[in-house]
Amino acid sequence: MTIREDTYQTSMQADTPPSTPNPELRISQLEHRHLLGLSTYSAEEIQLILQTARQFREVLDRPIKRVPTLRGVTVVNLFFEPSTRTRISFELAEKRLSADTVNFSASGSSVSKGETLKDTAQNIEAMKIDMVVVRHKSPGAPHFLTQCVDAVIINAGDGAHEHPTQALLDLLTMSDHFDTFAGLNVSILGDITHSRVARSNIHGLRALGANVTLCGPKTLIPYGIEHLGVHVTHDLNEALNGCDVAMALRIQLERQGSSLFPSLREYHDRFGITMEHMAQHPDLLVMHPGPVNRGVELASEVVDHERAIILNQVTNGVAVRMAVLYLLAGLVDTEKVA
Ligand code: CP
Repeated sequence: MTIREDTYQTSMQADTPPSTPNPELRISQLEHRHLLGLSTYSAEEIQLILQTARQFREVLDRPIKRVPTLRGVTVVNLFFEPSTRTRISFELAEKRLSADTVNFSASGSSVSKGETLKDTAQNIEAMKIDMVVVRHKSPGAPHFLTQCVDAVIINAGDGAHEHPTQALLDLLTMSDHFDTFAGLNVSILGDITHSRVARSNIHGLRALGANVTLCGPKTLIPYGIEHLGVHVTHDLNEALNGCDVAMALRIQLERQGSSLFPSLREYHDRFGITMEHMAQHPDLLVMHPGPVNRGVELASEVVDHERAIILNQVTNGVAVRMAVLYLLAGLVDTEKVA
């Protein structure tokens, strides 16, 4: 199945999907059939997604926020873990593109009767679906699904491994403030060990030429992560000096087997961004993938600060997911690398 030209023709001009090529991009389609992570995506593929998302953002600013681009395409949102932002923005993105969408939650499904991920996915695919958006607590679950079903798979977060669409919306948000990623200084703060957001952002930012510093307690930064081309510090002041964007991560108490730092209060004292930091660094932008633990990663006033662009990230999530769905839907029937 490919995106049909006639779906473009049936719409009014104002409803046409993005089609204007960016002369700086040498590719016009993705080299991958699935979006499992950013570790294998090239800078050009990432830029293609960002460029497409910018065009879809124009659609979202229209009074009628819908294009017929994915009419006839059926997308299943397979969520085995809780989600607010990712789930709602994927569903909105699918609806904005006129896809048929089905939502699945593990709770209330036959998973509670012992049905496996493979059987669940194969039974859903037997109902003739085209694309699967999957969030699962196990790293590699989306990769596993590519071997069980023919549908295009999009990773919406797999354990502590990757969360590629989160990183893409983060990159889009940064690109709204900076002309280039080359030489941009981004510090990622906090629980790196348990963060799929950190891993996907590291891959994406490094591919685009940004400098990445990781900062947090020694117990929350994986040993040897410097091999990904990042700088590591345990000193927040060092991480914020010369920093353009500070991305604070949620402390994931639910993924920590044992207490990896003395208390949330001590964590905030050493690694939380405060109003004092905002005053010391007058150009610093603050990001957070959400959900925020107010008063832990960020002082509550910082969450609401004009240089905290957290809600811009959420807004960009819909456009980025529209772009990913659009670009991958065109590849449903073709042979591509995973
Ligand atoms: N950022 C993010 O993944 O949020 P949700 O868990 O609410 O989807």
